[in-house]
Amino acid sequence: MAGGIKLGILASGFILMAAVLTFAALRTVEGQEPPNRIIIRVDQGEYTINKNIYGHFSEHLGRCVYEGYWVGEDSPIPNVRGIRKDVVEALRKIRIPVLRWPGGCFADEYHWKNGIGPKEKRPSMVNTHWGGVTENNHFGTHEFLDLCAQLGCEPYICGNLGSGTVREMAEWVEYITFDGQSPMADLRRQNGRDEPWKLRYFGVGNENWGCGGTMRPAYYADEYRRFQTYVKNYSGNRIYKIACGAYGENTEWTEVLMREAGGNMHGLSYHYYTVPGGWSDKNSATDFDEVDWFETLKLAGKIEEYIQEHAAVMDKYDPDKRVGMIIDEWGNWFEVEPGTNRGFLYQQNTLRDALSTGLTLNIFNSHCDRVRMANLAQTVNVLQSLILTDKEKMIVTPTYHVFDMYQVHQDAVLLPVDVQSIPYSQDKEEIVGLSVSASRDADGTIHVSLCNLDPKQEAPVDIDLKGAKPTSVSGRVLTAEVMNAHNTFADPDAIFPIPFDAVRLQDGRVTAVLPPKSVVVLTIK
Ligand code: AHR
Repeated sequence: MAGGIKLGILASGFILMAAVLTFAALRTVEGQEPPNRIIIRVDQGEYTINKNIYGHFSEHLGRCVYEGYWVGEDSPIPNVRGIRKDVVEALRKIRIPVLRWPGGCFADEYHWKNGIGPKEKRPSMVNTHWGGVTENNHFGTHEFLDLCAQLGCEPYICGNLGSGTVREMAEWVEYITFDGQSPMADLRRQNGRDEPWKLRYFGVGNENWGCGGTMRPAYYADEYRRFQTYVKNYSGNRIYKIACGAYGENTEWTEVLMREAGGNMHGLSYHYYTVPGGWSDKNSATDFDEVDWFETLKLAGKIEEYIQEHAAVMDKYDPDKRVGMIIDEWGNWFEVEPGTNRGFLYQQNTLRDALSTGLTLNIFNSHCDRVRMANLAQTVNVLQSLILTDKEKMIVTPTYHVFDMYQVHQDAVLLPVDVQSIPYSQDKEEIVGLSVSASRDADGTIHVSLCNLDPKQEAPVDIDLKGAKPTSVSGRVLTAEVMNAHNTFADPDAIFPIPFDAVRLQDGRVTAVLPPKSVVVLTIK
């Protein structure tokens, strides 16, 4: 590289697969300035990072709801009204803001009336999407809303458009939110709940282009318009209506929905999974090499391109950004753990998941002008979990630790960031080497989340805080010796965040050396 080093630019955090240029002024020679330079405009900041970007998704799938949350009142596992205490406590600790339920594909075959009333009288059903197991409906509307109350988070319910009726959807909302005398409110009272609940987020179907009815966009747009008409605001409750959105690069779906029904929605969902190697039995969650590591982070980072493409379509119809992009399913999708039910999607979770989480959350933050909510799939025991359980045992994953470290960004003001960093390359491909996001909280404290994606090279960084005179800096780091470090029931603390020492504050500038394959969050006052 004659005359300089190659740098990836992550301008204002908005471009991930960055332009590569020669930057003659910086050299990796010892004693010179660090090759990764970050400028944070502390005196600026227009948008708030909606705390719901740190939301989650839990479906009736495998051992997520049953075993993961619900153990039943008579279980020896400590519980409150059937909901396990350890899981609630862990999720409260990271301030889970919102939880989406009951699916997923399950939502469009779920009939909510089967999940209310005395448990022994609730009819069962076959969970056709996920293992063909019998669902006994013991966890239903009351149990979910109790779970959200115990978690201190907002419920987000996804209704059944694919195989349900308009009346069924309308009555669900009446059952939950109406405070007067009505058939549904009276039924709720009969089932032991006098007061209505508050319900803000309601999805009108899930993946209706696929498991939710195999619909074409114009057909779904009309169905959406019809169903949402009867999703009413009762008793002072205001529903935020979320239409089913696209997957991946399908901007045609977004285009049609925005054009035909944009005025009837508050949010439009979007789904994207990181599936290195495709849906095969070759993408182990724990047994991988650097090629797989690179591929995973490359694919995870792709979500930024997709957000930009879908946001551009939304801008065309909604330049004021009234409609929120609701990324209500995202995360890594690996092969199930050997010996487990393929339909249960139970996978382990390593430092690689931590890096892709940090990278993705930084991207979501940087698009918080449009992205108002995101829900990682699926919290406990399914896909990219925060928590794994085995009977009475519970462990948290590296992904959990990133949500813990990043919770400081919730409802903080996004600060513009310019990053000049060395790319991370494999063979002839390059991705961004350093991912950065910064915010200012209500107390004026600045938090900077940094991911060094390179598993071999440390990243010396120099942070210039424009418009601030910091007096202290501290941090936490999540890293490990090996790329596939993970927690197990035998070794639950193999990987967890520790205080970060390799950071200094000098003449108002922060310098740090990020270890290879690490997630760091700095607190600057
Ligand atoms: O999260 C697993 C499944 O992925 C969901 O049920 C569905 O919406 C998506 O295809």
